[in-house]
Amino acid sequence: MSVFERIDKLSSFHGLSVEEYQALIEERSEEAAAELASRAVSARKAIYGNAVYVRGLIEISNYCRNDCFYCGIRRSNRACERYRLTPEEILSCAKEGFRLGYRTFVLQGGEDAWFTDEILCQLIRQIKESCPDAAVTLSMGERDRESYQRLFDAGADRYLLRHETAVRRHYEKLHPPEMSFSHRMQCLRELREIGYQVGAGFMVGSPFQTSAHLAEDLKFIEEFHPDMCGIGPFVPHHETPFAGFPAGTVELTCYLLSIIRLIYPPVLLPATTALGTIDPKGRQKGILAGANVLMPNLSPLRVRKQYELYDGKICTGEESAQCRNCLEKQMETIGYSIVTERGDIKYG
Ligand code: 5AD
Ligand code: FES
Repeated sequence: MSVFERIDKLSSFHGLSVEEYQALIEERSEEAAAELASRAVSARKAIYGNAVYVRGLIEISNYCRNDCFYCGIRRSNRACERYRLTPEEILSCAKEGFRLGYRTFVLQGGEDAWFTDEILCQLIRQIKESCPDAAVTLSMGERDRESYQRLFDAGADRYLLRHETAVRRHYEKLHPPEMSFSHRMQCLRELREIGYQVGAGFMVGSPFQTSAHLAEDLKFIEEFHPDMCGIGPFVPHHETPFAGFPAGTVELTCYLLSIIRLIYPPVLLPATTALGTIDPKGRQKGILAGANVLMPNLSPLRVRKQYELYDGKICTGEESAQCRNCLEKQMETIGYSIVTERGDIKYG
């Protein structure tokens, strides 16, 4: 089968086998990428038109009990200056975002035990009261099922937990032994059972990743069909064990964005900050490859540089309002427009 036959099969919404996904990745060419992107854009347009959804990202804490080898806020990084926003500060970021038109807030942070269920539940209720009709997304790592349930009952709508890689052996090369692939996958299943809209995702070009691993990631997306899928290039951070590894590429990230759009057309797919970091046009390229979500930063300026998962992260010097305007312009130049809606998944 040629690459183009595989693209045909994919666009008629037939999944591919793992071997076929691998071949689709390995045999890619500029022509194949253009063909995939054009089909991905049509599939997205049929459901979402030219709308791009925005999520206001609030980076609530960079304390983390984990020690992932790729991440700049891992606990072993002594050079990382730690901060934690107070619930009042978080609420005021959300209110500011609400005034700017955001209808989804993502509370993201390291796994910081200070944020107990009690504190988070109260915060979620306050955000929901002050920002009527807004969705609350959490991205705070692995917690136990009871905790996920309490946060859901308090009003949280969505949860982002990237699986990072669908291959256990690869997961073990990216994480210290105390972190468990099975537990990560179990969390994703529990979140889904509880009723969250769930986001999975992985890095492109992470150390030791092969096209066979990526093919497994695609199979996982096909089978689990997460509501959201966060994929962005791996970008090295100088204070981590992976400092010396090369970054992932825009080209492969965009190629995978197109494939994921075709595997599951309704998926909410962000053009990530990491993609914008390795290429000034990265996020536009992501949208043109089939993404439909942007996640600009609403964190207070004084902590922006401290939430440094990787080197060179963009938008650390811009006020929330500037960030929003900048993205609006970037989208206009490619013929898309940002909409102020909750941006729930649509099935067509
Ligand atoms: N490069 C790119 N993405 C990273 N993440 C963490 N560290 C890096 C890095 N060095 C991603 C992980 C995590 C998400 C919050 O950020 O996939 O799940
Ligand atoms: Fe943040 Fe452009 S999106 S400054």
